[in-house]
Amino acid sequence: MKKFSHEERHQVKITLNGEAVKGIAEPRLLLTDFLRHEIGATGTHVGCEHGICGACTILVNGKAVRSCLMLAIQADGSEIDTIEGLADKDGNFNALQQAFHENFALQCGYCTPGFLMTLSEYLKSNPDPSIEEIKIALSGNICRCTGYHEIINAAFDAAKVMRDI
Ligand code: FES
Ligand code: FES
Repeated sequence: MKKFSHEERHQVKITLNGEAVKGIAEPRLLLTDFLRHEIGATGTHVGCEHGICGACTILVNGKAVRSCLMLAIQADGSEIDTIEGLADKDGNFNALQQAFHENFALQCGYCTPGFLMTLSEYLKSNPDPSIEEIKIALSGNICRCTGYHEIINAAFDAAKVMRDI
């Protein structure tokens, strides 16, 4: 494997869940790996590493992005939101997390950060979705355990709660 010289490594500065952080990235380092290994934010999971499963979904400047399809250096200067930023500082779940909890919308939980971040963006742009619309919005996220029924119900319930906040 090619070794990169110090000159080929870049400092990447991001705002992660509202906090300024920085790290060093080789040019081809994936944003997922930068978050997990360089920054230590391991809540973002890695499934396929090919943009298929959605497990690595995060928000970059408010948009849901598969972090396995983006290089860390491309994120320099961006605002990034991950699963670690959803609960409040005392660890209380936000509406979306609470709805997943109440609907038993996870089993192993491996896919859950990706679903939550996809929905975090989606429910902002479509706060009153139908069940069919939620299915389409989540069609790029794969779960091997739950069978999707509870996840979709959780998204529907969360939207209701978020509209009333
Ligand atoms: S790990 Fe990124 S889409 Fe599967
Ligand atoms: S809860 Fe296990 S993969 Fe979704």
